[in-house]
Amino acid sequence: MSQFLPVLPGATVGVLGSGQLGRMFALAARRMGYRVHTLSPHSETPTGQVADKEYRSPYEDLDAVREFARGVACVTFEFENVPAAAVAAAARLAPVRPSGRVLHTTQNRLREKTFLSTGGFPVPAFRHVTSLEDLRAGLAEVGCPAVLKTAGFGYDGKGQTRLARPEDAADAFAGLSGQEGILEAFVDFECELSVVAARSARGEFRHYGAVENTHRRHILDLSVAPALCVPDGAARAAVEMARGVLDALDVVGVMGVEFFLTRDHALLINELAPRPHNSGHFTVDACLTSQFEQQLRAVCHLPLGSTEQLRPAAMANLLGDLWAAGEPDWPAALAHPDVKLHLYGKQDARPGRKMGHLTALADTPQEAARLALAARQALTRTPGVGQPNQNER
Ligand SMILES: Nc1ncnc2c1ncn2[C@@H]1O[C@H](COP(=O)(O)OP(=O)(O)O)[C@@H](O)[C@H]1O
Ligand SMILES: [Mg+2]
Repeated sequence: MSQFLPVLPGATVGVLGSGQLGRMFALAARRMGYRVHTLSPHSETPTGQVADKEYRSPYEDLDAVREFARGVACVTFEFENVPAAAVAAAARLAPVRPSGRVLHTTQNRLREKTFLSTGGFPVPAFRHVTSLEDLRAGLAEVGCPAVLKTAGFGYDGKGQTRLARPEDAADAFAGLSGQEGILEAFVDFECELSVVAARSARGEFRHYGAVENTHRRHILDLSVAPALCVPDGAARAAVEMARGVLDALDVVGVMGVEFFLTRDHALLINELAPRPHNSGHFTVDACLTSQFEQQLRAVCHLPLGSTEQLRPAAMANLLGDLWAAGEPDWPAALAHPDVKLHLYGKQDARPGRKMGHLTALADTPQEAARLALAARQALTRTPGVGQPNQNER
């Protein structure tokens, strides 16, 4: 059927956005003989460095977006905050996968949570906030502690304020700076996990199982696969929920579904990412088909690959903070042969900026986690830097 016509190797695939997710996608695509074009407001980007062509243009410049779309057989994205108008302009010239509808739903936390709760998926209690009165009324209903987030344009904990007491409302509201907000009950979770999964246009579904995630300062710090903290039943339930979400949104591509596991072992969906996910980076070294190759296969209408995991794995993010005392000691981190280094080609090592990651492979997830953390610690001779603090969130 023509709607499933594959985009074959040799063709050019377009990526909106130009960060590390686009870079790893481009590497996977080029390995399979595709050409890759990328568009973003920046140049010399992580994606652009490994792409065949890099367009530098604001997403609002629809003429540039159209020129980019004319040069490719299909378009995908690695950044979900691409404006809807840019996606619509591209979609008139080349198929965009996943669709603009998936992007529209997931680029706004309020729309996303409304979609999930309407579809019967469990989410933390939430309220729409457009005024201080909304916030006060919402706090009285969801209780304290709570988290106030901007509805749009949030990542790595940006745009989030924790409210410990009702008196924090005025300051937290001021922090929204007039943007639409979403108030959420603060979940006292046992652990965080994610399911990265792919779905093809034919509805074929593949997943990488439950991955356990630890965050520091609201930024993903460590992912362990398979998850240690999750009972088997909850892991299976999380995968089934992910399947339900991808089906309901008719996703063609890869999606990361983030969950909280509550103290009484209930699952709540925290958020959706309509693209490969940081917690799925281990798949590059540990699985038969990486999440990036899977994205390529899905958006090109090729059969999906096996997600079989060859060894337990752990991934530790490398943030710009690690550069505080100079260039990290790469040979020290690589001293163990089962540790793999990924760097994204970013010049400016700012604190909190994701610069790269380490993946460690071992016989057990515990050992992989220990190895990934030890390798990261070996990067800096300054004691303390890069050490995880499990109590920090
Ligand atoms: N309602 C909540 N309850 C408890 N922790 C939360 C809540 N919302 C966010 N967090 C913490 O902050 C992290 C980042 O928040 P998230 O909503 O996933 O935003 P993003 O990843 O887009 O910055 C989460 O992984 C979690 O550790
Ligand atoms: Mg998140």
